[in-house]
Amino acid sequence: MVEERVLSGLRPTGEVHLGHLLGVLNKWVELQEKYSCFFMVADLHALTTDYARPREIGENIEENVIAWLAAGLDPEKCTIFVQSRVLEHAQLHLLLSMITPISWLERNPTYKEQKEELKNKDLSTYGFLGYPILQTADILLYKATSVPVGEDQLPHLELGREIVRRFNSLYGQVFVEPQPILTTTPKLLGSDNRKMSKSYKNYIALADPPELIRKKVLQMITDPARMKRADPGHPEVCNVYTYQGFFNPERVAELTKSCREAKIGCTDCKRELAEALIGYLKKFQERRKQLKGDPGIVQNILAKGNMVAGEMASATLKEAQKAMGLKL
Ligand code: TRP
Ligand code: SF4
Repeated sequence: MVEERVLSGLRPTGEVHLGHLLGVLNKWVELQEKYSCFFMVADLHALTTDYARPREIGENIEENVIAWLAAGLDPEKCTIFVQSRVLEHAQLHLLLSMITPISWLERNPTYKEQKEELKNKDLSTYGFLGYPILQTADILLYKATSVPVGEDQLPHLELGREIVRRFNSLYGQVFVEPQPILTTTPKLLGSDNRKMSKSYKNYIALADPPELIRKKVLQMITDPARMKRADPGHPEVCNVYTYQGFFNPERVAELTKSCREAKIGCTDCKRELAEALIGYLKKFQERRKQLKGDPGIVQNILAKGNMVAGEMASATLKEAQKAMGLKL
């Protein structure tokens, strides 16, 4: 029997926000209890889109890891490491690139979408096209069997499985095909009802102070048909209502009723949501403050994680090189 092993990563492109917490971090925290888990700061992946500001990415690493820890990752239970510090990622990426047809990369729907979405950046680069190869190297180096990802990452994982089949058929059985663990939490939209994203600046960061949370929540778009306070609302089309379901669950039934009967105004509804959110993030923010007061702690965790990851990655890379006849 193969032991279940989990690998996942997040790109340190900016602040960690509510979308990351609900979509990814809460799941990671759950998985670390059951499986051998590797969680990676995907700084090389961040470079594929943000190559023009590499320094900022480097500076984000520590703040990102602090957020992961504050969200509940426990370095005694999982391995937390930085992709660029384990050189085997670059090495295996290169080897896998030899056997990956360009057509597989070009037909990847996430590639096409992202290129369309991030029009302000020149993404007609070799590195960006090869994004899924690097992701495949990440997964294979740890022989991960299970990869928690969002819907948008499924094409990458499928491509990874195709690369595994090709590698194994060319050089012999070295890798196993990784399976996705789909995050079931529905997507939280941003304050403007678009996808929550750094580039739209429509997110609530986990570290936002209460005043800023109140301000951002008051700016959220509600039921567009509800022009006047006396108009009955339609919570099912309102983003504030979705948030209430996550962060104020014990009050959501009552609020729904009041909304439909026009007994509550949107401003009051939002005020209540803001306070619920502030409460929800309180523990996170306290832990984050503690961690920030002890600057050595993250460096130590990463030094250990990089070493543990490095050992495993190096053993796997050797195996791949041997299979290819590159090493005796
Ligand atoms: N591409 C992932 C994202 O944008 C991040 C990532 C990099 C990743 N390497 C990975 C996720 C390996 C899972 C497995 O969210
Ligand atoms: Fe949305 Fe609340 Fe306004 Fe209803 S009362 S439309 S749920 S903000």
